[in-house]
Amino acid sequence: MRLTLTRPDDWHLHLRDGAMLSIALAHSARQFARAIVMPNLKPPVTTVAEATAYRARILAALPKGLAFEPLMTLYLTDHTPPEEIRKAADSGFVKGVKLYPAGATTHSAAGLTRIENANPVFAAMESAGLPLLMHGEVTDPEVDIFDREKVFLDTCFAPLIQRFPGLKAVMEHATTRETVEFVRHHYRAGVAIAATLTAHHLRYNRNALFQGGLRPHRYCLPVMKRETHRLALLEAATSGHPAFFLGTDSAPHPQNAKEAASCCAGCYSAPHALELYAQIFESAGALDKLEAFASFNGADFYGLPRNREKITLLKKAQNVPDHYPVAGATLVPLCAGETLDWQMQPETGGT
Ligand code: DOR
Ligand code: ZN
Repeated sequence: MRLTLTRPDDWHLHLRDGAMLSIALAHSARQFARAIVMPNLKPPVTTVAEATAYRARILAALPKGLAFEPLMTLYLTDHTPPEEIRKAADSGFVKGVKLYPAGATTHSAAGLTRIENANPVFAAMESAGLPLLMHGEVTDPEVDIFDREKVFLDTCFAPLIQRFPGLKAVMEHATTRETVEFVRHHYRAGVAIAATLTAHHLRYNRNALFQGGLRPHRYCLPVMKRETHRLALLEAATSGHPAFFLGTDSAPHPQNAKEAASCCAGCYSAPHALELYAQIFESAGALDKLEAFASFNGADFYGLPRNREKITLLKKAQNVPDHYPVAGATLVPLCAGETLDWQMQPETGGT
């Protein structure tokens, strides 16, 4: 059995820098034509000048023979000047601005301390048509970690839409039924909002974090939720609804930082992302909806052309390696050591 699709894009990806960039980029570029590249480097990518330099490093690290277009983002801080938004929109390659509430996740310390601090920036984005990409979790330590996304919808996102009804906004890596309902509701009302969905949140519920012991390579933020939420995400992904599209949130960390007393958040799904999504869609009986989710809806939302090339997936078992070497360390992928049902036909992967 084979499945031929328009080459997909990844609308939420962490590529990092240096040695990690080389391996992460090679894995993603094998499958995806383009990716929205997250700006949470250390220090973060906050200006168009920094995004220009980071983009050049990505292109320099691209293996020969692979075509890949990095779509850059800026990291929103309390001090981002609204003038930077016009520059970003004019750059032609900055395609979004990322909102991290300060302290919400990996390398988010420079994020917004209060969402309202960025009101002038949101106004500039609304008029420039530049999308806001949100890590949608509140950081109040009083709020239970499993409720942080839902509370963000009520206390941050809903008021933001009221203030800036024309702002394009994406709830990144949605994890809850409430987010799916929120996006559907506002989309119906004509608001340009969407959500990306990761392979790991579609595949696992929170039990998977504790399956046979604590599983650090499945730990990410927002943390996985109960099965009812996973089922809602799966229904959204396989519905064909244009507001839901593929964003892996593949986020590499060295093995020693994952298998540590304080484990970093992030699942490294890049090497087999598309195969994972195919397996998930197949188990939901919805392989016919994979192309819209992976290759059409994101491009349409961002106002970019759909890709023209094709890739082919074969229904053929493959083993996921235990780890990859990276500059004196190792990197453990999601599903390490497991067997997946699908694989990309090599010549369509460009390698
Ligand atoms: O699990 C995550 N990892 N969630 C994020 O929001 C950030 C990411 C990372 O950069 O490692
Ligand atoms: Zn992310």
